[in-house]
Amino acid sequence: EHGAHAGTDLVDVRVLVSAGGTREYLDPVRFLGNRSSGRQGVAVAQAAASRGAKVTLVAANVSIPVPAGIDVVRVETTAELHDAMLERSASADVVVMAAAPADFRPARLAQTKIKKDDKGTVPELTLVQNPDILRDLVERRGAAGTPLIVGFAAETGDAAATVLEHARAKLARKGSDFLVVNDVSEGKAFERAENEVVILGSDGSATEIPYGPKIAVAHAICDTIARRLDNG
Ligand code: CTP
Ligand code: CA
Repeated sequence: EHGAHAGTDLVDVRVLVSAGGTREYLDPVRFLGNRSSGRQGVAVAQAAASRGAKVTLVAANVSIPVPAGIDVVRVETTAELHDAMLERSASADVVVMAAAPADFRPARLAQTKIKKDDKGTVPELTLVQNPDILRDLVERRGAAGTPLIVGFAAETGDAAATVLEHARAKLARKGSDFLVVNDVSEGKAFERAENEVVILGSDGSATEIPYGPKIAVAHAICDTIARRLDNG
């Protein structure tokens, strides 16, 4: 039922959303990328806008259409995404980091196309770590705790911990107010229209959002945001 009709609980709330996957270039034609389509982030932007928010979407290589009424800033790399988010977070009430920034980038960007030779020589890739945008957003926000910050995490369970244990630890590490957790065991969630998440709160709360369209999940995230802004 969500998504079809407009709401008013986010009227005039300034929401900054990132979506998509970054590209880290090796040379003018090649990059390291990831499988994020941007669908969940675009859905959050759309849901927030339909509830009255003023939405800016920082879109990293998002290939799906962005609905009207949303300001769009296009970026490609994690460095660009970092600068775009940090700059705009100062004038946001809520920041939602739904993008999948690459954790690493090539240490060197070749100015011309890397060529192969006849001897089977292969280039060696050295990677360096990218900035952690979410952590920097948390670190630089005001003492009043504005903006409200929502992170995302795609996790798999492993021998060391369950999906939720990994997610709890990540929420603590990042210091955001919420972490929207996606179980990506067995290739779930990527490039799909539907999603199933748990929203973890820094207050210890855990809200299970049932499997459904990404727009419904987006509205559930907006419900959590609106509730927290009310109580804030
Ligand atoms: N994120 C970010 N900047 C990065 C990497 C991630 O802001 N360089 C954000 C994502 O947008 C997401 C959250 O951090 O909202 C969690 O991303 P994730 O990749 O799960 O976290 P990492 O700290 O990179 O941990 P992992 O080693 O599991 O990839
Ligand atoms: Ca990562």
